Amino acid sequence: MVQSKGWDWENANQSAWLKPTEDSYYLSQVWKEKGYSKLLDLGTGLGRHAVHFAKNGFDVSAVDISDYGIRHLISWAENEKLPIKAVTGDMLHLPYPDKEFDCVFAYHVVSHSDTQGVEMIISEIERVLKRDGEIFLSFCSKESIDFQEAQGDRIDGNTVIYQKEPEVGVPHFYADLADIIKLLHNFSITKVRHTEYCSLDLHNRHKRMYYYVNAVYSPIGR
Ligand SMILES: C[S@@+](CC[C@H](N)C(=O)[O-])C[C@H]1O[C@@H](n2cnc3c(N)ncnc32)[C@H](O)[C@@H]1O
Repeated sequence: MVQSKGWDWENANQSAWLKPTEDSYYLSQVWKEKGYSKLLDLGTGLGRHAVHFAKNGFDVSAVDISDYGIRHLISWAENEKLPIKAVTGDMLHLPYPDKEFDCVFAYHVVSHSDTQGVEMIISEIERVLKRDGEIFLSFCSKESIDFQEAQGDRIDGNTVIYQKEPEVGVPHFYADLADIIKLLHNFSITKVRHTEYCSLDLHNRHKRMYYYVNAVYSPIGR
């Protein structure tokens, strides 16, 4: 299995990663109405979603392999007086007990491994989720130009190691719908969106596509 590599947040364009996404606004409403409380922001980055969910009353834990990201979140949470539990850790070996969370939010995170690694990450998510708990995950799509142009550089049928800053050496796993259904076989998938991320720089258009998946953990016979 390929080695995990966190984001080099010191050299990234941080401003793009400080505002919570539309999906987190929607889910903070829906998950609150369902009575969910314990939430894991997996691969929290600088912490924008952890802060958003904590402000909306969730009991938030956040993990990232990047020390820089976790330090950023801890100081953000202290400034906002939010009781977020943020730790440095690896999503392949989550530092939480079994059945700890009602929901897991993982935005542009689980794709940072290879095929074997992504299978392990999904089984770690299953371990820490309560039965009938919910997930929101995104996956890089095989229809992205980065995947299609990297034919010779794929390390397995789904994975490319990036060579561009700020993600030099960072693995990216690309999926299609069949891959997602196979990976999430212990879940009932409730919603899948497949969209193009459209840069506003129209002269430098770079087709990147993602899947966004909502699913409920409903294993048979466990
Ligand atoms: C594209 S960023 C997304 C950050 C955040 N979810 C957001 O939407 O702002 C991906 C994050 O995944 C983290 N990451 C990569 N591999 C990881 C691993 N094995 N375990 C935990 N976090 C990891 C990176 O350090 C980075 O912060």
